[in-house]
Amino acid sequence: MDGNGRWAQQQGLPRIEGHRRGVQSVRRATEECSRLGIEQLTLYCLSSENWKRPPQELDFLMHLLEQYMIEERATIVRQNLQVAVIGRRSGIAPDALAEMDRTVELSRTNTGLRLCLAINYGGRAEIADAVRQIAGEVQAGRLAADQIDENTIDKHLYTVGMPDPDLLIRTAGERRISNFLLWQISYAEIWVTEQCWPDFDERLLHEALRDYAARKRRFGGLPRC
Ligand code: IPE
Ligand code: MG
Repeated sequence: MDGNGRWAQQQGLPRIEGHRRGVQSVRRATEECSRLGIEQLTLYCLSSENWKRPPQELDFLMHLLEQYMIEERATIVRQNLQVAVIGRRSGIAPDALAEMDRTVELSRTNTGLRLCLAINYGGRAEIADAVRQIAGEVQAGRLAADQIDENTIDKHLYTVGMPDPDLLIRTAGERRISNFLLWQISYAEIWVTEQCWPDFDERLLHEALRDYAARKRRFGGLPRC
């Protein structure tokens, strides 16, 4: 969800207004994905690199996260959404964490769209955490080193039990991965829009999905004839 700051700047508003408007795009995207029957939507909310930002902006993002978790609860229940969070908990404001946990718990048995929020998430950190856990199991004698395969790694990632993304949407025209789901996106289709996240709406989502539907996915194989 990139470009909140740039969107605000273009409107002559402070950066935080861009984040505020970005939450509206989250609502729109979530509702439309849910309506379309998409299995999972993962949103990159805060990266492990975002801590380099000024403390005032980080405070505001924490406040926004807490508010979102409180204000969206009724909608989450009504839309049968299952909320999951991936990332490291350290550094997240305790109040925001508490509201987040409450929302995750409340929606745990819901069966609709899984809304996965990547908060204080970094792909390399996730892989390092997985490797540390696997090494611990080897050390404890519960796992033989020569049995480690791709499935072992999958099972130790934050995304255990979740499908790999099929489509990666990047807003604000950036053409990079920015440490997002490094392991899981190995075969994701990438779609880039110049629009900033606050301007991301149903029309753009449909455009991305139409483009995705026209791609030929071969996963390294040859086209079927
Ligand atoms: C994305 O918008 C939101 C977060 C990372 C929290 P940015 O804040 O990165 O917006 P730009 O890139 O400065 O425009
Ligand atoms: Mg950015």
